[in-house]
Amino acid sequence: MKINSPRFVDKTPMSGIIKVFPFVVGILFLLNYTATTPHGDSHTETDPTRPASTLYTKQPRSRDGIGKIYMGREISQVMGHLGADWLERPQREREEMPTHLIELINFKEGDVVADIGIGTGYIARRISPKIGDTGLIYGVEIQQEMLDILDVKMKEVGIKNIKGILGTIEDPKLPPNSVDVAIMVDVYHEFSHPYEMMQNICRGMKPGGRVVFVEYRAEDPSVLIKPLHKMSELQVIKEATPHPLAWVETFDELPQQHVIIFEKIAGD
Ligand SMILES: C[S@@+](CC[C@H](N)C(=O)[O-])C[C@H]1O[C@@H](n2cnc3c(N)ncnc32)[C@H](O)[C@@H]1O
Repeated sequence: MKINSPRFVDKTPMSGIIKVFPFVVGILFLLNYTATTPHGDSHTETDPTRPASTLYTKQPRSRDGIGKIYMGREISQVMGHLGADWLERPQREREEMPTHLIELINFKEGDVVADIGIGTGYIARRISPKIGDTGLIYGVEIQQEMLDILDVKMKEVGIKNIKGILGTIEDPKLPPNSVDVAIMVDVYHEFSHPYEMMQNICRGMKPGGRVVFVEYRAEDPSVLIKPLHKMSELQVIKEATPHPLAWVETFDELPQQHVIIFEKIAGD
């Protein structure tokens, strides 16, 4: 903020108040500005490579949300590692048909896959045999406890082609241009920084690589999942396409979830 205005050279008795007034107003303005930034910190405003602070807004948080709005959607809370057993529930195959999900995506021998929000590895365990010994799955998590469970489970069944990565809430820390398929099963709606996560996921993708969103269908009232844990196809497309991603296809044949597939646009 520029403060060398001619107004500040006044020597009258009121000049002290007049001098500090703009500082007070300026500080109040800055406090308000940073309190409403997406990140709760001020670096967003000083880094021109980052999106404008209006990308995210705040509201009182609802029951399952974090009170942060992105493109008209309140972001949900992250599922904690204490819910790990739910991911491994025996009825999951009947309820969600993950085996069929894996068939739909058509993984290939030797593929490099990023399972973002890998949890206990329930989905990755089903991808692992499809990509074989020449393939690799980066299992990205923000909860070390999940990675510890993943480790134990992979050892139990002798799977060696999954490599855990402890990411951050903004960055999955994938090697650049390395991934053929990135998959997010019941994860994207939990990203506290969806814009930054998608930017960094895209950096990790090979040109032509596929990014797969698997989300409970918000359009379908018979899907009995809490609203913030569901997403419509349109909303996913709206949030994916500011990034170098082109929509390819959507499968709606699973019992509860959309499978929405994008391709990384070459050259971006
Ligand atoms: C509901 S669980 C789904 C786990 C797994 N995909 C499955 O379907 O079994 C969501 C997981 O996403 C993880 N997660 C949330 N935000 C993340 C982020 N920014 N980066 C990586 N993982 C994240 C959470 O820690 C949690 O383990």
